[in-house]
Amino acid sequence: MSDTFDTTASKSEIYHPSAEVLASVQLPNYLELREQARRDPLAFWDARAKELVEWYTPYETVLDDGNRPFFKWFTGGKINIVHNALDRHVKSWRKNKLAMIWEAEDGEQRTFSYFKLWKEVNRFANILKSMGVKKGDTVTIYMGRVPELPIAMLATVKIGAIHSVVYGGFSEQALADRIEDAKSKVVVTCDGAWLRGKTVNLKDIMDEAIARSPVVQRVIVLKRTGQPINMVSGRDFWWHELAALPIAGPYCETEPMDAEDPMFILYTSGTTGKPKGLMHTCGGYQVHIATTLKYAFDVREDDRYWCAADPGWITGHSYIVYGPLILGLTSFMYEGAPGYPYPDRWWQQVEKYGITILYTAPTAIRGLMRFGDAWPARHDLSSLRLLGTVGEPINPEAWRWYYTVIGRERCPIIDTWWQTETGGFMITPTPVVPLKPGSATLPFAGIEADVVRENGESCAPNEDGYLVIKRPWPGMARTVWGDPERYKQTYWAEFERQGWYFTGDSARRDEDGYFWIIGRMDDVIKVSGYRLGTAEVESALVSHRSVAEAAVIGVPDELRGNVIHAFCILNAGVHGDQGLVDELKAHVRHEVGPIAVPAAIEFVDSLPKTRSGKIMRRLLKAKVLGQPVGDTSTLEG
Ligand code: WTA
Repeated sequence: MSDTFDTTASKSEIYHPSAEVLASVQLPNYLELREQARRDPLAFWDARAKELVEWYTPYETVLDDGNRPFFKWFTGGKINIVHNALDRHVKSWRKNKLAMIWEAEDGEQRTFSYFKLWKEVNRFANILKSMGVKKGDTVTIYMGRVPELPIAMLATVKIGAIHSVVYGGFSEQALADRIEDAKSKVVVTCDGAWLRGKTVNLKDIMDEAIARSPVVQRVIVLKRTGQPINMVSGRDFWWHELAALPIAGPYCETEPMDAEDPMFILYTSGTTGKPKGLMHTCGGYQVHIATTLKYAFDVREDDRYWCAADPGWITGHSYIVYGPLILGLTSFMYEGAPGYPYPDRWWQQVEKYGITILYTAPTAIRGLMRFGDAWPARHDLSSLRLLGTVGEPINPEAWRWYYTVIGRERCPIIDTWWQTETGGFMITPTPVVPLKPGSATLPFAGIEADVVRENGESCAPNEDGYLVIKRPWPGMARTVWGDPERYKQTYWAEFERQGWYFTGDSARRDEDGYFWIIGRMDDVIKVSGYRLGTAEVESALVSHRSVAEAAVIGVPDELRGNVIHAFCILNAGVHGDQGLVDELKAHVRHEVGPIAVPAAIEFVDSLPKTRSGKIMRRLLKAKVLGQPVGDTSTLEG
């Protein structure tokens, strides 16, 4: 069942918050609040919705559960996240505070005060309007890690449109599927993106994707690399040229939205079919992310905050773009790869910018740990006061390195478990919670999580089971875009009778009630913390002329958490040699993207299937790992 290596080796190892941390914590009453929230979760969220964000019109009901599992939060309320993230700050002393510091891979630096960011967002909002974007339309955004990416997101939401950000590491088919499903008439992209000193041809990829999904009518192109690209007259427009026109005025009204209006779609791919667009809404989402960021990271006015994810994934949406801006923080964003050009690039940046909070993924930590302690030791990291991790279970060895070598034993490690579907943190400590390396500790205030057996009974301590969430929370995705039935089937069918949300993860709880996430129970694969579905990789393989059938599985890997192992049945007469392996890898890279490229491709004559024709990936995995295959009674005879 486990997708990752053992994370349970050190259950007895506990790190209590130090006296220094306890004395400095600004939100010392968290444990008390959590207890109150346990007794009355709705009162807890109600109070946060009043404390942390402003409403144009107050809501009437905190939670409407009349049409389960399609829950509604803060109904009757009117709100816009851009009001809370920018407009209100511009009217306060924060107007001149830095909202964002950005460093390019080549070292160039740009800074944005709240005022400057607000103006840029207004300008781009006006540009979108001039391209015909209206409230309720979707805009697909496919860019590198540049300030214009958050600007495009904020501008879209400002005018009441819905963004669908596609990670810049995805390629043609992945992008085409997402544009098609979201039916975006307007897309925003860059000529190219910088990565490890090279350029990625984003606009070329966009052109090919549009050829495959011709819904697109307008393309706005940011000039980033200056590489030669093809501009289609009447369809493609340069961002900087539009920004110089009178239409791009520096003021644009923010659209008041219903709390339950869609705010964005974010795609995750699964085991079957096309990627599904999880839809998040305007009210509950922002309450959830502002609350969790404030409490779990105990954020402060003078923080220099760095979430080193990509804005194209949920971590970036919630905790690079929206959460920090709502709370008025100063964020740092870096364009390029962590170890480029040298393995101390990040540590240099922590020192240079005086970063106080660093939030990243275990795979990045392991990747940097590999280069040894000397690189971080060269730098003054004493500005750091809190470290965060997300994306997959952190192995205790990486945890200890992060804690000792990076945090110098002063910084709590906040291991946040959550998902694209949950919108924000669900199981996480805060600085006042005792830590155990490898455990995301306990559910956040107002969240009820459990590990249960198939029949819904709670598991005994240390027994593996299904990780479920037993009551709704404000940041939950409301549906799968255009496919509510799929939403119901995927998340609410497993424990339909009890009305619980099934996360897709397996986990255990120890004697202290601490949660230890084991990994995915379905065929979602976490590669370097990035979430991939088997279906997209398999259909990419099958789209190659030599391949008749394909199955992919995740295999544990020390550095990347998991890597992809593919099995292919070739068409009659095709010879499977190294040349074909290389060709198939290149093909997957071209169709889905570099993160989806299998580490190994094996040619086989048949694939184990159930009688109903489902590929038994469990058996393939056991074979690769040299484990016993277990029950095969449902195997095709
Ligand atoms: C995994 C990322 C262990 C988990 C925010 C989940 C984790 C999936 C942790 C969601 C963690 C995320 N410890 N596992 N702290 N955080 N996961 O949608 O399997 O990209 O179901 O959201 O990542 O991945 P997603």
